[in-house]
Amino acid sequence: MAELKSISVPTTPFDDQKPGTSGLRKKVKVFQQNHYTENFVQSIFNALGCKVKNSVIVVGGDGRYYLKEAISHIIKIAAANQVSKLIIGQNGIISTPAVSSLIRSNKTTGGIVLTASHNPGGINNDFGIKYNCENGGPAPDNVTNEIFELSKKIKEFKYVPDLKTCGLIETIGVTTFKVDGRDFVVEVIDSVENYVNLMKDIFDFGKIKKLVNQPFNILIDSMHGVTGRYVERIFVEELGADVNKNVTHTETLEDFGGEHPDPNLTYAKSLVDKVKADTSYDLGAAFDGDGDRNMILGKNAFFVTPSDSLAVIANNLECIPYFKKNGVKGFARSMPTAGAVDRVAQKLGKEFFETPTGWKYFGNLMDAERLSLCGEESFGTGSDHIREKDGIWAVLAWLQIIEHKNMSVEEILNEHWCQYGRNFFTRYDYEECEGKGANDMMATLESMLTSSGFVGREFSSLGKTYKVKVGDNFSYVDPIDKSVAKNQGLRVLFEDGSRLVFRLSGTGSSGATVRLYVDSYEQSNFKNDAQDILKPLVNIALEMSQLQKFTGRDAPTVIT
Ligand code: G6P
Ligand code: ZN
Repeated sequence: MAELKSISVPTTPFDDQKPGTSGLRKKVKVFQQNHYTENFVQSIFNALGCKVKNSVIVVGGDGRYYLKEAISHIIKIAAANQVSKLIIGQNGIISTPAVSSLIRSNKTTGGIVLTASHNPGGINNDFGIKYNCENGGPAPDNVTNEIFELSKKIKEFKYVPDLKTCGLIETIGVTTFKVDGRDFVVEVIDSVENYVNLMKDIFDFGKIKKLVNQPFNILIDSMHGVTGRYVERIFVEELGADVNKNVTHTETLEDFGGEHPDPNLTYAKSLVDKVKADTSYDLGAAFDGDGDRNMILGKNAFFVTPSDSLAVIANNLECIPYFKKNGVKGFARSMPTAGAVDRVAQKLGKEFFETPTGWKYFGNLMDAERLSLCGEESFGTGSDHIREKDGIWAVLAWLQIIEHKNMSVEEILNEHWCQYGRNFFTRYDYEECEGKGANDMMATLESMLTSSGFVGREFSSLGKTYKVKVGDNFSYVDPIDKSVAKNQGLRVLFEDGSRLVFRLSGTGSSGATVRLYVDSYEQSNFKNDAQDILKPLVNIALEMSQLQKFTGRDAPTVIT
């Protein structure tokens, strides 16, 4: 075996390597700049400090453009930094939930996830790098802040230029290199196996298989993202679904077929249209690029909001073997998520947490065994089986519940609303606004919300009047490590329980995306259209924030 030598490559820092809600996300062309990717990866290792020597790190991504180049850099940098082993998915592919599972089951030091999630891919679109810690979850703020600080000061990165990565990750197997007198191992694994076994431990596949063959007609849409191979293995091979009728877009493409791989009513429109057109479908589901998000539809494309999906799963955990075995600790949702699960927690006597946007905030609670199930309005649902949200897990949970209750998706929702009341919810996104206008809008709104006299003010539209109970900028104290996350979104809480939330997205790669969340709790009229019910509150939100004046936008780019 030829002995390889590492070198130090002098570099100059970039000032924009601040990780957002979920890792560093930029246009591919930004990552392609000389030393941009290398600097960031070295900054991750620098932040890990003495943990790097002899570490084992999982590496995988969602198959988007630039994945292989990034992995090649990571291998050469890891080898030079005395990492002892990288566990890499075949062809670099591993879904985000599966990375989390691999970190946990192999007890590795951490993992590097190469994805920009639901953002479009391809040479003119987005790429991303995210570090996950030994618990399998996204690095918390103190770690990502440290990475950012180090990235602004970096002077050199370590590299093994002669380590040949060409063809290295295409075949499953173990390759050992000698680098600076030490062994450096690259283990290429089947991207799916560990995850399939985990799902089989959690769910009763026998029962789900009976449902799928009943026939309960499903249509699972991978949106050309990473989940294609997971869907084929789990739904087709294990559960007996029909490869032509029950699954679609399962080929992973570098540009996701030119679409936004985001499972919502706008970007997963082709699924919505198919389930509407073919009334034999009982359930439709879609996942995002890296497989952590999900959307659930019933017959005729009956839409289940993520907030309701979370509440329904919370209310029915007893039919899932994993929870029967491990018990159910608390529930949690991110602050902008509608409050449907709050009522389930109350009824079941479970602890409940409201966290800032970002899955990373659930990790500490899970590690402390206070949280079993959580979700976000941004189409994320998951449990403490891993430390990421999990799209396929959510669909399997729904199928297990449907099999157990022997009811349709819509019947389950109606039953739920009759028992608990319904949170009508909508989110308006104004994507890629000009940064200054968006920031000015938030600043002006914040000073209004926090000024004396705001509480008690009344706002009216379309014959409905709402009185302000609270106006603030949400901040969160982590109950476990007491760390504080400030400026997590402007909230207006009204006396009847309705809420308006304004946030700037932390996952965009350019410009500013304004998100407006509207949540209203009703105890009747469950069958009404959410957009009709929420119209007065939307009008009030637009007027209060002067959104059009500040952003120049007269309509959102996406409504969910
Ligand atoms: C990612 C994160 C989620 C978060 C979502 C929206 O998917 O994993 O935790 O809810 O982005 O974030 P944003 O900052 O764009 O609203
Ligand atoms: Zn994602």
